[in-house]
Amino acid sequence: MARVGYLLLLASSALELVPKELWNGKQVLASAKKRGKPPREMLLDVSMHGWDMKVLPERWARGRPDIVHVALLTAMDSPLYLEGKLEIYVHTRDGKLMEFKRGVRLPRNYEQFKGLMEQLLVRSRVPVEGEPLIWISDQSLEQLLRGRRVYVLESSSPPLSGELPDGAAFVVGGFQGGPLPSSIKSLGEVRSVYSRQLTTNAVVSLLLCSLEGQGGIGRIAFSSGEGGTRS
Ligand SMILES: C[S@@+](CC[C@H](N)C(=O)[O-])C[C@H]1O[C@@H](n2cnc3c(N)ncnc32)[C@H](O)[C@@H]1O
Repeated sequence: MARVGYLLLLASSALELVPKELWNGKQVLASAKKRGKPPREMLLDVSMHGWDMKVLPERWARGRPDIVHVALLTAMDSPLYLEGKLEIYVHTRDGKLMEFKRGVRLPRNYEQFKGLMEQLLVRSRVPVEGEPLIWISDQSLEQLLRGRRVYVLESSSPPLSGELPDGAAFVVGGFQGGPLPSSIKSLGEVRSVYSRQLTTNAVVSLLLCSLEGQGGIGRIAFSSGEGGTRS
């Protein structure tokens, strides 16, 4: 059966709990005390743990829950999502896949978002009881994307052009710096949306706007000026 709508996957996202090697870090312990949580149940966040993170491998692609938060808000505020024509998933750098119940909305407050993601990563589902709204999926990325045309978005690659087929999946890195891992690039055709590197949020915005234009959703009916309301 033909699929209706698109799939957005934030891949290799910089969203993880504080790793064991930082549990005794000065900044980690200070933020744990302030929040009344053990380090193992807190998100790694460069804005609070930047000094401690200096010892971490690939730290330039870690500890940025804010990137995921902003990109998810943009996607979930889009007409495409509101019309039920966009599925959204988050894949983390350490290989977890987050699924969202269709139509779910997230807190706009960053601290509340972090609390939600901490609960999800510790308990594998939110809320812990009752019907889950967000959960850690058992699916592999290959299973998730099977049967779809997949575009992996990366700067310095051939431009994404032409009509994008219904059911297509778009993979955008949910991290701050460095290339997408080759295991992610191999999921589909690697394409760019602009000639220079953009933020994750800018890429999601550009992409959703053009998909909405293509599907005739949320178009702004600009007046040409002729025969308008001017007296
Ligand atoms: C801040 S960037 C990471 C930087 C990465 N070195 C790059 O060049 O795309 C986050 C993600 O945004 C997407 N991205 C950034 N600029 C892009 C562009 N011009 N075209 C397509 N995707 C882009 C990629 O998926 C990337 O992984």
